[in-house]
Amino acid sequence: NAASKGTYEFYMLKEIDEQPAVMRRLSQTYFGADGDVRVEQSIVDAVAESDRIYILAAGTSYHAGLVGKNIIEKYADIPVEVGLASEFGYHFPKLSKKPFFIFLSQSGETADSRVVLKQVNERNLPSLTMTNVEGSTLSREATYTMLLEAGPEIAVASTKAYTAQIAVQAILAKAVGEKKGLQDAKDFDLKNQLALVAEGMQELVDGKEKIDELAKKYLANTRNAFYIGRGVDYAVALEGALKLKEVSYIETEGFAAAELKHGTIALIEDGTPVIALINDPATADLTRGNIQEVESRGANVMTFVGKDFARKDDDVILPQVDYYMSPLLTAVPAQLLAYYASKNKGLDVDKPRNLAKSVTVE
Ligand code: G6P
Repeated sequence: NAASKGTYEFYMLKEIDEQPAVMRRLSQTYFGADGDVRVEQSIVDAVAESDRIYILAAGTSYHAGLVGKNIIEKYADIPVEVGLASEFGYHFPKLSKKPFFIFLSQSGETADSRVVLKQVNERNLPSLTMTNVEGSTLSREATYTMLLEAGPEIAVASTKAYTAQIAVQAILAKAVGEKKGLQDAKDFDLKNQLALVAEGMQELVDGKEKIDELAKKYLANTRNAFYIGRGVDYAVALEGALKLKEVSYIETEGFAAAELKHGTIALIEDGTPVIALINDPATADLTRGNIQEVESRGANVMTFVGKDFARKDDDVILPQVDYYMSPLLTAVPAQLLAYYASKNKGLDVDKPRNLAKSVTVE
């Protein structure tokens, strides 16, 4: 059964490994035999009519929203604001004239998000919940639902739901962009991209030993670590840092690559691990410069780099996909690094201290 651990020691690794299958399932669910994207017409119409999308979420789902903002603005051409549900719920910003709300929630039960949705409903505004749990509270209370199709996620640290949330946001962006007649959306061959992503993920999970070696070499004895990246890689840096700290207890922060030098670089010492993500053509060279800055101060840098920008000595070379889809691949070695850092310390990877899978209190 889908919720059993099988031969795996921990659910987290099983769920990381399932990601290629989730991408294929999403492709089957949201694309017709004719290759056309298929999203409920009423959802596409409601989003296409809106002048601004507000994405609300917590934790890892919030980080998926930060990636989704880039994808939706690019392919659906609608401005997007991403908010932490717990902040938004008590300090609503000035809304646009035709707002549309998207709630990202693996469980569909997060109290912080429910507080926002309640107010959205009181104002009679349209909303969509993207969730892994059919019939969950956020799904029942929102106007529309799109399912993540990731299968049960048991490990407290979210992995496959994060990548599924990114993919489903891309599916929505493509459908809305096409409905609006946008050339960028028509040219975006998402079905093919999802196939490439599934293949790429498989290659990355098949090469997991390499990540275990990196974890052993650089993370076994460290107190802290940093993730850096620009563009969508910045969003993935935040998630990579959360993943690593929540399961391994290594204090990790994610930074926009250039921002480190404005303060936090003071924390770089001999042997401080820095994981650098490079997929953004506009800034790849600049991030290389930031790597030199931290290396010259003693950092041990690990690089996860898209094939087109890769150099021979990069640690993980990611199969090349569309820049906006690259987080789906970059996330995998970041998840694996967190997994091995935790497991190698003998921790209970699936149940980090102080954390719950679904948080139903504010
Ligand atoms: C908890 C979990 C996180 C998760 C967050 C949001 O804090 O430990 O892994 O990202 O809730 O959960 P949701 O179900 O709303 O995505």
